[in-house]
Amino acid sequence: MIKTPDGVILDAIQVDRDSKILLYQQIFNGICDLILSGSLVSGTRLPSTRVLMQELKVSRNTVRQAFEQLISEGYLQGQDGSGTYVAPDIPDASFQLHRLSERTPVKNHSPVASLSSRGRKIAGDFISQGFSKGRAFAPSLPALDLFPVKNWTRILSRQWGRRDLLRQGYGELAGYRPLREAVAFYLQSTRGVVCEWEQVIIVSGAQQAFHLLINILLDPGDSVWVEEPGNLGLRSIILSAGAVPAPVPVDESGLNVKEGIALHANARVAIIAPSHQYPLGVTMPLSRRLEMLEWAYKTNGWVIEDDYDSEFRYSGKPVSALQSLDRHEKVIYVGTFTKVLSPALRIGYLVVPKGLIKPLTNAIGISTRGLPTHIQAALTDFILEGYLATHIRRMRKISMERQHALLDAVSQQCDGLLDVAPTNSGLHLVGWLPEGIDDVAAYRLAKSRGVETYPLSRYYENPLAQKKGLMMGFACAPPEEITRATGILASALREVSNIKIG
Ligand SMILES: Cc1ncc(COP(=O)(O)O)c(C=O)c1O
Repeated sequence: MIKTPDGVILDAIQVDRDSKILLYQQIFNGICDLILSGSLVSGTRLPSTRVLMQELKVSRNTVRQAFEQLISEGYLQGQDGSGTYVAPDIPDASFQLHRLSERTPVKNHSPVASLSSRGRKIAGDFISQGFSKGRAFAPSLPALDLFPVKNWTRILSRQWGRRDLLRQGYGELAGYRPLREAVAFYLQSTRGVVCEWEQVIIVSGAQQAFHLLINILLDPGDSVWVEEPGNLGLRSIILSAGAVPAPVPVDESGLNVKEGIALHANARVAIIAPSHQYPLGVTMPLSRRLEMLEWAYKTNGWVIEDDYDSEFRYSGKPVSALQSLDRHEKVIYVGTFTKVLSPALRIGYLVVPKGLIKPLTNAIGISTRGLPTHIQAALTDFILEGYLATHIRRMRKISMERQHALLDAVSQQCDGLLDVAPTNSGLHLVGWLPEGIDDVAAYRLAKSRGVETYPLSRYYENPLAQKKGLMMGFACAPPEEITRATGILASALREVSNIKIG
C-alpha cells in the first residue's frame, strides 16, 4: 500500500458501473476487504473524499456515503480537520468476520466435523430428502392442481384480518381450540376415532407428530418396530434420536406381529400404517389388528397409527382406525392434511391418550411453540363450512380417473416392462419390474427426463429383502400428462433393460 501526504493510495479498489451492487456499497466493500485482510492497518490515513472521487470517477456524495457507513460500523474514524483513519481497535485480521459472500470455512475444519454426534447423524445421508415435486408420478402427492384456491383464499383473507387472534399473542400450544374440536368431530364421524377434543393436538404435519412422539417415548438405544418396507421419513427421525429402527416384514396383512416378536422382542413402540401400508398398500385385517393391540397390552408398548391417506378409498366400506379398537389407551393416532389438501399447508394432528397431552404440549413448547393461529382458524372455517368434505369427494373421483389413465397408459405403452394392478385405496401403485431391470437405475434415468417415480428397493432396511419396483403416484398429474410421462418412462425402462442385457 503506497502512502502519500494525502493518504494511502487505494488502487486496489475499483468500481463496476454494470454491477447491481450500488457504487457506494462497492467502495464500502472494497475498503472493508482491505481492512479485514490486514492490508490497511489501524491508524492508516485514507485519501480525502475529493481525491477518492477523482480516482474512482464517482460523485463526492457516493464516497461520503461509503465513509459514513464505514465510520458508523467502526472500521474508520474521522478526525476533525485531519482526515479519516482506519480505526485503532480493529482486531487481528485472522479473527475477523468476512462478508457473507466471501466466508470460507477455516482450513481442515469442516463444520460437520464439529457437530455433536447427534448432529452428525442428522447431517448424514440416511435422512430422507425424496420430497416429491408435483409432477407425474410423484408418489405421495394428491391432485394439487385441484386445490380450491378461490375458497381457501377468501377464507384465509377473512382470518388474516382478525385482530382478536393477534391480541391473543402466542396461541395454544396444542392448537387452536375450534380446529381441535373440528378435527375431533371429523375423526369421530369418518374414522371411528374415539376421543374428546382435548386429545387432539395440532402439529406441523405427520412428520412433526412422529418427531415429537419418538422424542418423548424413546431413549437412545431403544428399539422401535417399523414396517419393512416402510416410510423412509420415519426411519430418519428414529435414527436421528439415537433410537434403533427394528424392521419387521410386511406380508399381505401388514406388519407381521409374530415375526416382530420373534425378531425384536424388546421393542417398546411400533409404528404402522394399518389402513394403507406405505409403500406396499396392504390393509391390515381385524385379526392382525387385534394381535397388534394384544402385543401392546402385554408388553406395555405403544402403537403409533399412521393414518395418512385413508380418505382415499374408492369402493367398499372404509376401514375404521385401529384407535377405535383400543381399550387400554395404547394407540396414538396420527393424521395429516397433506393428502386431502396439500403438503404445503404443513398441518397434521395427533389424537393421544389423555396422559400424553401434557408431555406433548410441553414438547411443542420447547420446539415450534405451535402453528400460525390465523391459518389454523382458516382451516377450521374451511372444514366447518363444508369445503373440506366437498374437496375430498372431488379428489376421490378425480384420483380414481387418474388411476385409470395410468393403468391404460401402462398397458398401451409399457409392453411387459412394468406390471401394475389397480388399487382400491391411496394415491399410488407399485409398478413391478421384470427380472433384470434395476429400479434405482430406472428411477435415475426417468428422473433425469423429468419423470418422478421412486425405487421400491430404497424403502427396505435389509438389502436381502429388497423387491424391485417403482412407486407411481397417479393423482398429482392430469391424464394427458400421465400418458406423456408414461411414454418417457417406457423408453427409460427399455434403455435400462438394454443396458442390462447388453
Ligand atoms: C406414509 C406417510 N405418512 C405420513 C405422511 C405425511 O407427512 P406430512 O403430514 O408430514 O406431510 C406421508 C407423506 O408423504 C407418508 O408418506
